[in-house]
Formats: sequence, C-alpha cells, structure tokens
Amino acid sequence: MNINYSFERPLAPQDVRRLLKQTGWAGKRDISGIETMLENSFLTIGAWDDERLIGFARVLSDGVYRALIDDLVVDESYRGKGIGTEIMKHLLARLEQVEEIFLRTGKEMILFYERLGFTLNRGTTMDWEFKLD
Ligand SMILES: CC(C)(COP(=O)(O)OP(=O)(O)OC[C@H]1O[C@@H](n2cnc3c(N)ncnc32)[C@H](O)[C@@H]1OP(=O)(O)O)[C@@H](O)C(=O)NCCC(=O)NCCS
Repeated sequence: MNINYSFERPLAPQDVRRLLKQTGWAGKRDISGIETMLENSFLTIGAWDDERLIGFARVLSDGVYRALIDDLVVDESYRGKGIGTEIMKHLLARLEQVEEIFLRTGKEMILFYERLGFTLNRGTTMDWEFKLD
C-alpha cells in the first residue's frame, strides 16, 4: 500500500469530518467548525491512499515553545498498518525545534505514544468547563 503524507495538500472539510466521526471526541463537529479549525491550526497533516483521505492530525502551536498535537485519527479500515505512527513521526520531525510538545490521550494509548518517545507528564492538567459530553 502506497500512502502519501502531506502538510500541504488541501484538506476538504467533509473528508476531515468523515474521519473525525470515527473518534470519541470530535464526532459532532460541523463543517463550519472544521473549516475554522483547519484555517487556524498551526499545522495539519493528511494521509492519502490515492485520492482518499485516510488519516489526519493537527497541531496548535506558537512554533517555538509549545505545540499541542490533537485529533490524530486513521480511517477504521486502515488501522493497524503503521499509518498513525507515520503521521506522528512526520509531525514530530516538523516540530523538532519546539521546546515542549504535548498531547492528551486515554490510558489505553500510553504505550502507542511511549513507543514514539513520549513520556507521562509529571504535572497535572486542569480543564476549564470541559464542554464535550
Ligand atoms: C490511534 C490511531 C490513530 C492509531 O492509528 P493506526 O494507524 O492504527 O496506528 P499504528 O498502526 O501505527 O499503531 C497501531 C497500534 O496502536 C495501538 N493502539 C491503537 N489504538 C489503540 C487503542 N484503542 N487501544 C490500545 N492501543 C491502541 C496498538 O498498540 C496498535 O497496535 P496493534 O495494531 O498491533 O494492536 C487509530 O487507532 C485511530 O484513529 N483511533 C481512533 C481515534 C483515536 O483514538 N486517536 C488517538 C487519540 S489520542
């Protein structure tokens, strides 16, 4: 399988929505919100099988001190083939100069991110009125 990874190739909001619907946190996002999200993200990356978008992730950042990797998703029928790992490796290479790179995840995913070099944060994350139900 020849998967292409790109930071530049345009992302159609409806394709991103199809992927986000397969997540537990972003399934309700609408097209207008996704358009704003894509415009305002520091980095977005897509993975393509030919013309089909099959993976996505994005980064919120100032490009120097902080970067939050968010919304990593791979199409259900393409999972377990290393595509999520590749997306993360591309992002981490691009963010090489950033002082602190972090993300939020469930406990079941800790091993996946540890394999990429992440470590559990010693601090505590606090939320202001987390609005996801
Ligand atoms: C997480 C995700 C992006 C991984 O993409 P992928 O292309 O399947 O990743 P890789 O093939 O590189 O790695 C797969 C490994 O990730 C780990 N993994 C993935 N999902 C997992 C889960 N829900 N629970 C535990 N481990 C998981 C496993 O170790 C898995 O290895 P296995 O296939 O041998 O079991 C994909 O499963 C996905 O889109 N899940 C739904 C959205 C999500 O949870 N995103 C992460 C948010 S922090």
